Amino acid sequence: MAIGMEHLLDLESLSEEDLTLILDTARSFREVIDRDIKKVPTLRGITVVNLFYEPSTRTRISFELAEKRLSADTVSFSSSSSSVQKGESLKDTVQNIEAMRTDMVIIRHTSPGAAYFLTQSCDSKVINAGDGAHEHPTQGLLDIFTIRERYKRIKGLRVLIVGDIKHSRVARSNIWGLKRLGAEIVVCGPSTLLPYEVEKMGVEVYTDLDDALEGVDVVNILRIQRERQDTGYFPTLREYTRLYGINKERVKRLNPGFTIMHPGPMNRGIEITVDVAESCDSVILEQVTNGVAVRMAVLYLLMEKDAEALDNGEIV
Ligand code: CP
Repeated sequence: MAIGMEHLLDLESLSEEDLTLILDTARSFREVIDRDIKKVPTLRGITVVNLFYEPSTRTRISFELAEKRLSADTVSFSSSSSSVQKGESLKDTVQNIEAMRTDMVIIRHTSPGAAYFLTQSCDSKVINAGDGAHEHPTQGLLDIFTIRERYKRIKGLRVLIVGDIKHSRVARSNIWGLKRLGAEIVVCGPSTLLPYEVEKMGVEVYTDLDDALEGVDVVNILRIQRERQDTGYFPTLREYTRLYGINKERVKRLNPGFTIMHPGPMNRGIEITVDVAESCDSVILEQVTNGVAVRMAVLYLLMEKDAEALDNGEIV
């Protein structure tokens, strides 16, 4: 079955069928990356450009590894060491890179809509690696994949997302993807860090964390963006930790067999205590491992739509 889209820009517009196809394909690639030889020739001859206009550790390395594991040729671009510093626009940058005969562009950018903008200005397949506070679809997919691996289902699970929902592209991608697959979503944070009319996204909303934790299977803890401490969203980090920090007392309220997740980077001791982050209920590093498999699946499925671009169109 071919995927129903040309690019991966968000999870809001993804159908249940496409989400399931990506997750099922990622399962096959997870087996590939657990082998001694973690490489397949699936994207031989395809050139992928990683355009990063914002810092990243996990997403950038994960995409680069996914591309290499699929035998694609890869080029990585960082805006801080490029002609962007001389004033070159995003459109000119991507058109110049594409003139060197590239096939796919992975973009992380501070502006919501940057990935969509690229689809209007170049011919490459585009994957959104995080656009401002809009979406981070591959993070959402790897979170959903990790949950599905653990529970063998998504439907009926109650998933709590805690923290700065307002500025979080990870929260948005998780909400859209998990809801599409039948999970119940709860969000919790200070009212200043909840988007206006967030309940219209079809989520339950709490400002009291102890209430929000009751009956929950999975907690996804967002990074508190420390740079916002002086912007009036919350008084002090200490107060944030007291009201919204996940610790070993609080997790006792969760359903048996609960799961702790965090997309990273973590502020240990602020939104999550070290003992919870490193407990056997935490899948934080498993999320990172699964990220490579999920990104391999997305790269493969988008290129497979143009089957003649691939040698054989199959995972080997
Ligand atoms: N989760 C995530 O996007 O991490 P990076 O910012 O390190 O890519």
